[in-house]
Amino acid sequence: MSCILCYCRPGFENDAGLEIQTLAADFNCYGYFKGKPNTGWIEFYGQDTVSLATVINKLPFGKFIFIRQWFLSLAHFEELDPSDRINSLKEVTDALPLGTELRVEAPDSEEGKALSKLCRKFTVPLRQYLKKVQRYDEKSKASVSLFLFFTSSTSCFFGYAPSENCSSLANGILRLKHPNQAPSRSTLKLDEAFQLFIPEQEREQRLAPGLHAVDLGACPGGWTYQLVRRGMFVQAVDNGAMSEVVMETGQVKHYQEDGFSYEPKKKNVYWLVCDMIEKPDRVAKLMCDWLIKGWCKEAMFNLKLPMKKRYESVQECLDIIRESLHAANIKKFQLRVKQLYHDRDEVTVLLRKRPEHN
Ligand SMILES: C[S@@+](CC[C@H](N)C(=O)[O-])C[C@H]1O[C@@H](n2cnc3c(N)ncnc32)[C@H](O)[C@@H]1O
Repeated sequence: MSCILCYCRPGFENDAGLEIQTLAADFNCYGYFKGKPNTGWIEFYGQDTVSLATVINKLPFGKFIFIRQWFLSLAHFEELDPSDRINSLKEVTDALPLGTELRVEAPDSEEGKALSKLCRKFTVPLRQYLKKVQRYDEKSKASVSLFLFFTSSTSCFFGYAPSENCSSLANGILRLKHPNQAPSRSTLKLDEAFQLFIPEQEREQRLAPGLHAVDLGACPGGWTYQLVRRGMFVQAVDNGAMSEVVMETGQVKHYQEDGFSYEPKKKNVYWLVCDMIEKPDRVAKLMCDWLIKGWCKEAMFNLKLPMKKRYESVQECLDIIRESLHAANIKKFQLRVKQLYHDRDEVTVLLRKRPEHN
């Protein structure tokens, strides 16, 4: 039976399931999801394969917050023969579209990690087999990614996704190396957000050296570090202590103030970033206030989600943002939201007014 297989952070299966269930309904695909807690993946079932294919082709992958990767699985094999796994897969290959890329992956969980060797070992023979049966040609025009997802050494899901409508990253994860000098592990969240949300060709302008930034909830300085290393000048707002590494650069001024009442003296701030551990709706309103007052051009912030109903809480915050901006007559804005790989119980948001020419 076909389903859409979705990857997510282990522990967020219910949020990922609610997300695809809600968004698929916009394409007349009404379904249900199945997922075990802490596995890092879920199955979404619709009324038939055609409706699921419509979803995988038409629902923009970039809309997902909790889903890291997805593909349309045409078959679920539960008893693969470990001595000849390829033979077991033969029955479904005819139904596959011609692939231009092959991903053999496993969940981002402890069980999944134990399967990574099998994934590596299986990729080449599977690709060779698919070439032989004319289901694989990297030079073909239509880009289709074929996916084989092992959930154990004898079970897998097998299918495809349009390459331009799924994550180009292995397992949907942007892995980054923690910089030795950075004051906290949080630093990778902002680095990942900049890389994921800002297209490469726009980085030179939007992350230019010399820009001014405000970092609310800055201590000990992991996010400030990312701004400073890009040559920006930072107003770091937090009652805590800032690490010397960032203070010694001479690019940072530390204000021991409350982030909710802080007002920049000069109105030359490009970036507002915020990682305060505060109620998400309060943070969402604060970010809108800054944008509406014209105190910053772009905001990058975390919404902390310690509650059970995380999908619903994020939606409430996004509604607050949309309503506040509409009420202020800001009709064109960009709102990107994602649970990044380096995020934990939180999501990261990019919010900015759309430039006039867009
Ligand atoms: C998760 S930490 C920030 C880590 C930081 N982004 C980094 O990379 O090092 C949250 C910070 O928010 C600060 N904070 C919480 N509420 C605040 C408020 N109302 N005003 C200013 N800072 C606040 C805390 O003092 C804490 O240092």
